[in-house]
Amino acid sequence: MQPSVSRLNCKPEATAFRPGVAQSITHCAREVPASEAAHASLAPILLVRSPVVAASRNSPAEENQDQLFPKGVVLVIRRDLADGMDLFPDELRAMARATSARRYEFALGRRCAREALGILGGPRVAIPVGRFRDPVWPLGYVGSITHCQGFCAAAAARVLPGDGSCTIRGLGLDSRLAASLPEQLAEVVCSAEECTWLASRQGDGVPWNRLFFCAKESAYKCLFPATHSLLEFREVGVRFNPKLGSFDVTLPSLRDLPARLLGRFAIRDEILLAATTWIESPACP
Ligand SMILES: CC(C)(COP(=O)(O)OP(=O)(O)OC[C@H]1O[C@@H](n2cnc3c(N)ncnc32)[C@H](O)[C@@H]1OP(=O)(O)O)[C@@H](O)C(=O)NCCC(=O)NCCS
Repeated sequence: MQPSVSRLNCKPEATAFRPGVAQSITHCAREVPASEAAHASLAPILLVRSPVVAASRNSPAEENQDQLFPKGVVLVIRRDLADGMDLFPDELRAMARATSARRYEFALGRRCAREALGILGGPRVAIPVGRFRDPVWPLGYVGSITHCQGFCAAAAARVLPGDGSCTIRGLGLDSRLAASLPEQLAEVVCSAEECTWLASRQGDGVPWNRLFFCAKESAYKCLFPATHSLLEFREVGVRFNPKLGSFDVTLPSLRDLPARLLGRFAIRDEILLAATTWIESPACP
């Protein structure tokens, strides 16, 4: 399967896709089926018409990924490897004792990650496994990988995207099946305030408690490579804006953590996706 690729929020003429990858891209305006209208008040991100990813074949969430991250971030989504694994020796060593399913999932993530780097003009190199399982991106790049039941995605960006207006210090991407968390787990993940908000959304058909989980994991993945901060779920505050498909993240003030993280989420065909971007300069869009 060709990957579906999106250079997020970039103008079509500004994109510089590699041959082969470019063939899988179209810019289309999608009609919104009536069945989706019910989501309109929840997350318009599902409904936005804009230049987006192609390869509609097996795609659960990719059609609306164009707004998950700000300009300068590349997102690649895949469901399979098609032409076999292409792991580097370092990566193979990390998977030496893994099951074949885990090795496949890992290889799929590395493939997406290398494709994203390639689109950015980055090097084709190993992405080793860090001490805390974090992917180690080449110097000058940040990124994040997620997999969930045959769905896999990686996002990557240059730390300095080009025009000097901003620095992207981190990206976090998380995907989960769209089903509610068991009550007890939800209480571990959410603060009292978040539980109150959850109660107010009961019955709207969105598994918000798992979205909290997903959003917090994406924030953790975004921060970890730069800060090595191990965070508890309840230390990280998330406030959703269902109408905008966005969320704010608040972090423990005692730690040297960034003030501003941008969060976006999407729900599509049973997959929840949360994306967090750590932007250093306020001038960045
Ligand atoms: C790793 C973790 C973040 C997500 O793992 P998961 O449930 O397997 O979900 P995903 O498939 O979406 O993500 C796995 C990918 O995240 C990336 N990842 C793993 N650990 C990471 C870390 N410390 N920092 C950044 N990215 C990390 C890896 O690329 C991994 O895929 P790979 O092993 O194939 O390379 C989670 O399991 C974890 O360890 N959490 C501990 C901390 C936590 O939960 N804190 C509370 C949140 S605030």
